[in-house]
Amino acid sequence: MSKLKIAVQKSGRLNEDSMQILKDVGISIDNGKDQLKASAKNFPLEIFYLRNGDIPQYLKDGVVDVAIIGENVLIEKGNDIKIAEKLGFSSCKVSVAVPKGVKYNSVKDLEGKRIATSYPNTVNQFLEKNGVKANLHIINGSVEIAPNIGLADAIVDIVSSGSTLFKNNLKEAEVILKSEAVLAVSPQISNDNQAILNRLQFRLQSVLKARQ
Ligand code: PRP
Ligand code: MG
Repeated sequence: MSKLKIAVQKSGRLNEDSMQILKDVGISIDNGKDQLKASAKNFPLEIFYLRNGDIPQYLKDGVVDVAIIGENVLIEKGNDIKIAEKLGFSSCKVSVAVPKGVKYNSVKDLEGKRIATSYPNTVNQFLEKNGVKANLHIINGSVEIAPNIGLADAIVDIVSSGSTLFKNNLKEAEVILKSEAVLAVSPQISNDNQAILNRLQFRLQSVLKARQ
């Protein structure tokens, strides 16, 4: 019998809430945390623990059928992937931030500036839309340190509680987009697995409703 393949974040912010929502829909998983793959005991589901940034490509290639992922990651890397369900957790923003003492009136202030980010496509789209040209420094993590070490004038990164900005003497200057965890679907999902997905979504919807 066919099984629905779902990707969840291996570690990081979404992991715990992703596993919790699967539990809440009544799926019990048979694993060792160190395993990268696990099966559900009572539902035709296989779980793959993957790195966030790799998940959009796995969806595109049909290696997995669905994923629990931050909408912001899809916007950055997964333009043709559909969202089946918004999951109501892991809300965050992708924002421009600048050092506390720096004035920021509008996006025009970024003209000619150096911007450090892990979200180059999102930033480029934002700049293009506003007719601003800037220089991007692409880094994979700890982006907030860039202004302090003289690598950038501004950053674009995820803001959740705001505490990382605060600790690094930065202030949020502009929100580019808002995001939350979503259930994303591969364009290559088979009919059999789509039928399993429908069952999963049905359960998810009642859990989400009960959480409201
Ligand atoms: C994420 C993100 C921000 C921070 C936002 O970083 O890149 O830096 O969390 O959360 P906050 O507003 O609640 O402080 P993470 O800690 O995941 O590390 P990384 O950037 O090194 O991947
Ligand atoms: Mg960070």
